Amino acid sequence: AGSGKFFVGGNWKCNGTKESITKLVSDLNAATLESDVDVVVAPPFIYIDQVKSSLTDRIEVSAQNTWIGKGGAFTGEISAEQLVDIGCQWVILGHSERRHVIGEDDQFIGKKAAYALSQNLKVMACIGELLEEREAGKTFDVCFKQMKAFADWKNVVIAYEPVWAIGTGKVASPEQAQEVHAAVRDWLKTNVSADVASTVRIIYGGSVNAANCAELAKKEDIDGFLVGGASLKGPDFATICNSVT
Ligand code: G3P
Repeated sequence: AGSGKFFVGGNWKCNGTKESITKLVSDLNAATLESDVDVVVAPPFIYIDQVKSSLTDRIEVSAQNTWIGKGGAFTGEISAEQLVDIGCQWVILGHSERRHVIGEDDQFIGKKAAYALSQNLKVMACIGELLEEREAGKTFDVCFKQMKAFADWKNVVIAYEPVWAIGTGKVASPEQAQEVHAAVRDWLKTNVSADVASTVRIIYGGSVNAANCAELAKKEDIDGFLVGGASLKGPDFATICNSVT
């Protein structure tokens, strides 16, 4: 861990029921969390209101997606204004499942981020390469190209999530993650500003669990985690939050 306050996000993805989420929230409310860590959870849209009204204010709440602009005649979408209206503070954008399963591209993601920030949502901006891109030596190129879509870095946390590590149990080694985080920070220094490079938090996601988080958290440029599967278990998620060094 290096820059800024340690940050741990829990991305619940498309999981949970009213009942399981009630249990998860009560486990999170009962957990003891270190004070020097920002903690955010991202339930599916339909449960955000339930979570927001039952979860301790110690933990902030995020959406997993949002519409690209102002609401209106956009069937099935949820606007940034609506998220703010129910007290949601964050949104995850550019997640690999939205890029590679749903087909969102850099331009679309960049516009969503700009609009969400304009409405005072904070953004977890996700980047990361596919296995074949890593094997072809293109990891940095892919990540830098994805970074270019985001224009404003205030109120943004960058989540490096190598696609081959997501949901696979194949966590990146601390060295692999550190290498990319350092390169991303360097890219920011050259292409944005030294100030942004030194203050923005770069968190790692991809098969993080209660057993592997401590080693990753020791690395200089790993400022926290974005956790999928392990965030569905309150005690494990609390252990990951408390891996702040
Ligand atoms: O956004 C978090 C994520 O994609 C990682 O998922 O299940 O590998 O921790 P998981």
